[in-house]
Amino acid sequence: MVPDNLKHGLRGRSLLKDVDLTKDEFLEVLDVAALLREEKRAHHEPKRLQGLNIALIFEKSSTRTRSAFEVGAHDQGAHVTYLGPSESHLGHKESVKDTARVLGRMFDGIEFRGSAQADVEQLGAFAGVPVWNGLTDEWHPTQLLADVLTIRDHASKPLKDVVLCYVGDARNNTANSTLVVGAMLGLDVRIAAPSSLQPNAEVRALASDLSGKSGARVTVTDDVAAAVADADFLYTDVWLSMGEPAEKWGERIKLLLPYQVNAQLLRLTHNPNVRFLHCLPALHNADTEIGKQLLTEYDVDALEVTDEVFESSASVVFNQAENRLHTIKAIMVATLTGT
Ligand code: CP
Ligand code: NVA
Repeated sequence: MVPDNLKHGLRGRSLLKDVDLTKDEFLEVLDVAALLREEKRAHHEPKRLQGLNIALIFEKSSTRTRSAFEVGAHDQGAHVTYLGPSESHLGHKESVKDTARVLGRMFDGIEFRGSAQADVEQLGAFAGVPVWNGLTDEWHPTQLLADVLTIRDHASKPLKDVVLCYVGDARNNTANSTLVVGAMLGLDVRIAAPSSLQPNAEVRALASDLSGKSGARVTVTDDVAAAVADADFLYTDVWLSMGEPAEKWGERIKLLLPYQVNAQLLRLTHNPNVRFLHCLPALHNADTEIGKQLLTEYDVDALEVTDEVFESSASVVFNQAENRLHTIKAIMVATLTGT
């Protein structure tokens, strides 16, 4: 069985940023995820994490990531302890370094979601158990595992031939992770964003370095029409991320409206089979308080994606969301039990 025979020896490893995994390791985690998905669907899931304890630190809100860690752990027989914002001393009365050394004595693995990448790195350095980054301002590595599994599920060609185009706010965690993972796995990865919202020089240099080894084609441009031509997957994320000030919405909307994923943008791919990805949550209609307020205040019909595209047959966002469970379960199994 794959999880008990991992080729790449991930036991004890952390996932603090996407490139902590090599290409082969990343793909192997996806193989484990696909197997765990089959087992769950067959209602036959051996409990490989029986008796283990997992801490879930969330300094920011979450629906998918928290649920995936909780359900994934329960499915595999582990217990979880949720430490939400202001529910522990972390960052207030106790340093990350001290918290890491305490939790590492009690738990077998620790998930962390917060702002500072330095915090998750410090947990990883001092906990002595695997630490998984459930999103920081810089990276969203567990998201990309689910995204690439979804791409593999829906692509009719090998990954190296897939054209993945991310449009929108491209300085955020999801965009950074998309760029470097696409570059590491050898895809044709394209980022379309206004110059002020493109990935920083460090992230671009990392992507360029990775593409040299993998043969990936990496493009960062403000020319959205050129970027989406022949795309197999269009990916977007919210235009203002958690932790950014709400006052920025006006400026962001103005800058990013030309990068909205709408029916016209799908047409510009010239690919009738193009698929739409979004990490979620998405502001795709007025059914949320914030969505309604923004559409009214800024007098726009839609934000990062139109409701038409979000609800269309091109959209695979809920498959992508389900894959968070299987891939997060896989990274837990691989790093806690892999040989
Ligand atoms: N995509 C994602 O990370 O979702 P949550 O914020 O709900 O965890
Ligand atoms: N870029 C988004 C991702 C949410 C899953 C944020 O950080 O809010």
